[in-house]
Amino acid sequence: MPDYAILGAHEGSAPESPAGTLYPPGLMSPRPSALITGITGQDGSYLAEFLLEKGYDVHGVVRRSSTEKFDRIEHLRDRVTLHQADLLDHRSLVDALRAARPDEIYNLAAMSFVAVSWIQPTLTAEFTGLGVTRMLEAMREVCRDARFYQASSSEMFGKVREVPQNEHTPFYPRSPYGVAKAYGHFITVNYRESYDLHASSGILFNHESPRRGLEFVTRKITWHAAAIKLGLVDKLPLGNLDAERDWGYAKDYVEAMWMMLQRDSPDDYVVATGTAHSVRDCVEIAFDQAGLEIAHHVEIDESLKRPAEVDHLIGDASKARRELGWEPRTSFEELIRLMVDADHELLRGGGQAATAQLSRTRSEAKPDWA
Ligand code: NAP
Ligand code: GDD
Repeated sequence: MPDYAILGAHEGSAPESPAGTLYPPGLMSPRPSALITGITGQDGSYLAEFLLEKGYDVHGVVRRSSTEKFDRIEHLRDRVTLHQADLLDHRSLVDALRAARPDEIYNLAAMSFVAVSWIQPTLTAEFTGLGVTRMLEAMREVCRDARFYQASSSEMFGKVREVPQNEHTPFYPRSPYGVAKAYGHFITVNYRESYDLHASSGILFNHESPRRGLEFVTRKITWHAAAIKLGLVDKLPLGNLDAERDWGYAKDYVEAMWMMLQRDSPDDYVVATGTAHSVRDCVEIAFDQAGLEIAHHVEIDESLKRPAEVDHLIGDASKARRELGWEPRTSFEELIRLMVDADHELLRGGGQAATAQLSRTRSEAKPDWA
């Protein structure tokens, strides 16, 4: 049985009220509070919804941009508190934590697109690697009794040392992103051991949804299947059709993040479905859902192939199942079909979002290694 604590009422955390009144140790604040970095991303938006449903006071970190990109949390805007901060800026992280006084911190912000990590390797290391140290340092300074979740990745396994991969499988990252995530993982483990922080690392395998960025392969495929069906585009350019991943549903995966922070002791967990599918499988299901013939529309674009690929990424989530009681609930086929339906609905409705997406896919920047 999972040993969930009462919502966010972590022993000894003694959160302060917004007015600055300290609650006595062991006595919980009226509502548990959580801060999410990367709240505007796919996972951040699902996690925010999940925590709001659980009664949390939800805070999110957003970075300044000349155009607001809050589409995924638009429906939550009046229910979450947003703080301006950036993983590159320690001061802003400290201020966000001081204002939010979280019981739980979910560090989801990162440069998360693997292909771009070859184009911007140094920036990726700054955001995705060193950014974790900045968050942990800010936490030590402001709320060392809070609980910390680090969004680690199966990409760290890269050139895999065993199949399937579990918490003890050695890392062999194959992209600047994977290398940065390995740093983020180990600094989380190190701060847990050095400073006795409640810091956990979730080694999550790929997880997708209708809110996935259009540059990731599943969403690219489901969006194009819907757009071709509606006559908006005709071709779907893809790279390596034989690449395989262990793909799950993001909505299922954010629950595992929360479950990790309800444990008395921090730890590391692999979260995965245990089944792999190829990019080709994904196209077949998506095109079947849209009633399309693959041969008429899919074309291989060599520039979309990567300088180095990861092999046989399949996760063994038995520890998460055993200790957290976590199970994936959505099959790969259900996931891809629901994503095609959601994209069809979105594009059929037209509107600004769909038009903006269309122009974005047309102007997709090509990597310079091609
Ligand atoms: P995502 O949709 O790309 O979202 C990334 C988020 O990070 C966005 O909110 C982005 O903000 C924010 N961000 C990026 N750089 C930042 C910075 N310097 N300061 C503050 N915020 C910054 O990613 P996701 O799919 O939700 O993934 C969430 C996390 O899980 C990431 O760390 C990712 O690497 C990791 N992960 C994902 C998967 C997966 O399959 N989805 C698997 C394993 C691990 P903007 O909106 O301003 O860009
Ligand atoms: N993006 C993309 N576009 N990928 C393609 C394409 C294409 O046109 N054609 C084939 N692929 C292949 C890639 O080469 C890769 O092997 C696979 O599809 C999946 O690519 P992505 O969807 O971009 O995801 P990813 O596995 O590289 O990274 C995602 O999962 C990681 C977990 O392992 C991201 O969410 C990372 O942030 C996450 O850590």
